Amino acid sequence: MPITSDTSPLVVLNLPDPATGTQVQTCSAGLDDGPWEHDAEHGYGPGASIADRLPQDAPRQGLIPLEYRRASPAELDLRIRAARHALGERVVLLGHFYQRDEIVQYADFVGDSFQLAQAARTKPNAEAIVFCGVHFMAETADILARPEQAVILPNLAAGCSMADMADIDTVQDCWEELTALYGDGTDANGRAPIVPVTYMNSAANLKAFCGEQGGVVCTSSNADRVLRWAFERGERVLFFPDQHLGRNTGVAMGIPLDEMIVWHPDQPLGGNTPEQLRKAKIILWHGFCSVHKRFTVDQIAMGRQRHPGVRVIVHPECTMEVVNAADEAGSTDYIRKAVQGATEPTTFAIGTEINLVQRLAKEHPQHTIFCLDSIVCPCSTMYRIHPSYLAWVLEALERGEVLNRITVPENIAAPARIALERMLALAPQSQAVAR
Ligand code: 13P
Ligand code: SF4
Repeated sequence: MPITSDTSPLVVLNLPDPATGTQVQTCSAGLDDGPWEHDAEHGYGPGASIADRLPQDAPRQGLIPLEYRRASPAELDLRIRAARHALGERVVLLGHFYQRDEIVQYADFVGDSFQLAQAARTKPNAEAIVFCGVHFMAETADILARPEQAVILPNLAAGCSMADMADIDTVQDCWEELTALYGDGTDANGRAPIVPVTYMNSAANLKAFCGEQGGVVCTSSNADRVLRWAFERGERVLFFPDQHLGRNTGVAMGIPLDEMIVWHPDQPLGGNTPEQLRKAKIILWHGFCSVHKRFTVDQIAMGRQRHPGVRVIVHPECTMEVVNAADEAGSTDYIRKAVQGATEPTTFAIGTEINLVQRLAKEHPQHTIFCLDSIVCPCSTMYRIHPSYLAWVLEALERGEVLNRITVPENIAAPARIALERMLALAPQSQAVAR
């Protein structure tokens, strides 16, 4: 395979697109391998977050049996359909928008992370919820599902590098430093000095921390509503792990940039002075998504030059500069609805994960839809869910064997549920798409 250029730290390769036969540029050499080629390695594997640091205790996926690794797409399709048919209503399959089409086709519900959290509750009689997404989503489903329901993540290596950027010990250390500085008294309006808000893309114990400390969870589809909730209860917000979603939401709410500061967990006071911290309205954890970090203002300028009148929509995990240069920013479901709602043929440049962009392009041939980043670079961990793993867990379920169950212990699930319920109680949102 010819290496055509280097975009540190990713190697860019020309590969034939299996769908069209044309050459496309893709970001990692391993993307044409089965994900199991990477199961034994310590890392996120090929894709946008390949260079991010995986925590030592991140779950590992053991090698799945050879019969699944060797099976052709046609054989896997037959086996998955047969297992699903045999299992009937005993199983519900959830798929995030970033999953590959070969997986999305089997999902009972497809949605963004908020919608899938809700969908996890819509089939209380199903014995198992097979979550085709990433680890924090499966944990959330387990927290919200009935205790008897087993939540299954087909590949345990499907984590999230952004979620891994905040861990409970480091967040607790930060909290201690902040409460020592701010004290624990309330202001004249009865508000606490600080309220923790965690993005859905975080471990269950961080959601539990928020539940215990009067905080809440948010997703990219409700971050503004959640932040308003938090400011009714606190003078400031500690927002983790995604600095960009926090900053973009703060900007949209009119919070000045010098009142949003970044907490660097490896530095005393997060690298800030006590004065900066006292003035701050939002303290942003130093986390980011490697997929959305790839989008740039230059790509938008290029898109506008080549396609006058193009409508640029990006996910709010992109940097503030990119969000400011775009026409709109919103969650994956916002992006889907914007495309679906366009009544005239429109050109869209989209800044989010490639699987969703390519699916939208296929489903809406009346529009011209392209990804802002011309290099195909999927989320490394969403990529880990492949039909081979799905066939493996479904056929095991059919035999009565539960593989890859994600269980959040009740001492963590109970406070995490409080933080999630606070979010769910805020105004209703749209539902996941039932297929
Ligand atoms: P949504 O909340 O829009 O589904 O996004 C989830 C995610 O992981 C984005 O990177
Ligand atoms: Fe995590 Fe980014 Fe992948 Fe979403 S796209 S799961 S935030 S690494």
